Amino acid sequence: MKSIEKGIRSYITEERFSHSQGVRDTAVSLAIRYQCDEEKASIAALLHDVARDLSLERMQRIVKSNCGAIYASDIVFNNPGLLHARAGRIIAQEEFDVQDEDILQSIELHTTGGEGMSLLNKVVFIADYTEPGRKFRGVGEARKLARRSIDETVLYIFKSMISKLIQKGVYICKETLLGYNEHVLDFKGDAIGRW
Ligand SMILES: [Fe+2]
Ligand SMILES: [Fe+2]
Repeated sequence: MKSIEKGIRSYITEERFSHSQGVRDTAVSLAIRYQCDEEKASIAALLHDVARDLSLERMQRIVKSNCGAIYASDIVFNNPGLLHARAGRIIAQEEFDVQDEDILQSIELHTTGGEGMSLLNKVVFIADYTEPGRKFRGVGEARKLARRSIDETVLYIFKSMISKLIQKGVYICKETLLGYNEHVLDFKGDAIGRW
């Protein structure tokens, strides 16, 4: 684990490094609470933002050379906020020799979430949102929920993300919408609502 901590330093800023350590600590405590593999949580959390401080051009080169154009839609391909999760997955696999699909997928889904998330995917998704360095409105509620129910926390995060994106009037990834729909049906008997 020390080698991952050392290795990510050449990719990310000091500030991002403290964020990644915060995500790692939060992910490990969530893993203990919800009986998830602590070591995997730690690896995925440390590496989740490994590509976040690279230039868009470099992220695009990494994604293109590894998977061709199919792996990312034009919108994802041109947005560093989204593309870093795809590029991060590839760096984790190629440069840090992470071959565990669950860890790789947790890195890939940490920004958007998605449908059919594994326990580890959820742990990393929540940890990224709630680590101690996060200061936005609603984070306290998310932290409180995270002590009670992993799926309610995931639903809460989807709701907050989607309402913020709607307020800003910007694009919402289909993975986020699918993840929200899947979770809302689990918690609300009348979630189909009236149309
Ligand atoms: Fe990220
Ligand atoms: Fe992050």
